[in-house]
Amino acid sequence: MKSMGERRIVMLPGPTSVDPAVLRAMSRQIEPHSHPAFIDKYKNVLEKLRKLIRTDGQVFAFAGSGTFSQEVGVANFVEPGDKVLCLVNGFFSGRFVDMVKRRGGIPKVLEVPFGEGFTAEMVRKALKGAGFKAVTATHVETSSGVVNPIDEIGEVVREEGALFIVDTVASLGGMEVRQDEWGINVNCACTQKCLGAPPGVSIVSLDKEAMEVLRKRETPASTFYGDLKGWLPVIEDPYNNYRSTHPVSLIYALEEALNQIFAEGLKKRYRRHKIIAEAFRKAMKAIGLKILAKPGYESSTVTAVLYPEKCSIDDVEFRKEVERRKILIAYGYGPLRGKSFRVGHMGSVTANDMLSTISAIEAALKKFGYKFRYGAGVTAAQKVLEKLR
Ligand SMILES: Cc1ncc(COP(=O)(O)O)c(C=O)c1O
Repeated sequence: MKSMGERRIVMLPGPTSVDPAVLRAMSRQIEPHSHPAFIDKYKNVLEKLRKLIRTDGQVFAFAGSGTFSQEVGVANFVEPGDKVLCLVNGFFSGRFVDMVKRRGGIPKVLEVPFGEGFTAEMVRKALKGAGFKAVTATHVETSSGVVNPIDEIGEVVREEGALFIVDTVASLGGMEVRQDEWGINVNCACTQKCLGAPPGVSIVSLDKEAMEVLRKRETPASTFYGDLKGWLPVIEDPYNNYRSTHPVSLIYALEEALNQIFAEGLKKRYRRHKIIAEAFRKAMKAIGLKILAKPGYESSTVTAVLYPEKCSIDDVEFRKEVERRKILIAYGYGPLRGKSFRVGHMGSVTANDMLSTISAIEAALKKFGYKFRYGAGVTAAQKVLEKLR
């Protein structure tokens, strides 16, 4: 545990701060992955995840990261020759294209610029009569802070009879995700972002339709460890089946993180994320900075902010200045590397964390000679954050 003098506030879009009780859960003696004591905990984790993701389908959790959960989603549902529509609006949604290619699929990219998102109409046009087996998308595109309307897009994908594979890595636990209602057939997520747990567990969930497709698949998936059909007997009857050893300590941590999430209550948790994000955007606008995400597409979990045009600011030096004030923020991605910075406000983030972050950003901007009304950001945020008090 860090001493108070070294304490920093992590405002990265993952990994996020982990609550001490979650960290402590990992210091428990290891139970064998096949022992009933562990299996009871594991089943409890899967059940809680099912409630969080809102699916009556099947949740899988095993060692891995967000990237691996995306890859598992693709590897189990894309076979050689399958046409896949990939909705690309940033770095993470773009990775699906490569993953589809590596499985012998034929990706067709539908792309919008960084900072923009998709509409259901765009997807409808692209899908019409083109025989796509699947569509890939990212709910919150962490590289730009954009949230896509997955519910509306899901309706269109369902109408066109394609499978919908969605990355909710940067939204699950911080924003509403309704897998079954939104028509997400394959949901890909992980632990180290809005769930406030350590990195290391891939979470993949399938709705009933995807389960049917999985059961009917005749060729083995191109991955042994990530073969969901291979994992199925273990998930359904863990007392009698084995595939691979679970990351036992990480499952303890995830169980505690999920307990905390449900103790807070989902409605309250999503509202906290929404208000803190709104406070940050208002603060940035109050000091004359622009938000990258187009209005209506702003995520509640991560925000990308453009550096002021009139003042030259070195991104690395700026973030160092912010870090000297014990706040960690992230660099901008892709075409906006060096021209923007990103702040993650997810997981256990509090109103006080956000006020400290805005204050550090203002202090760093002032140091670089940017002209603005000092303190205007903090004042604007305070007004919004009162809703949480
Ligand atoms: C939206 C999204 N998808 C996938 C990933 C990849 O996750 P990981 O770094 O755990 O592999 C990230 C990581 O930041 C992400 O933000």
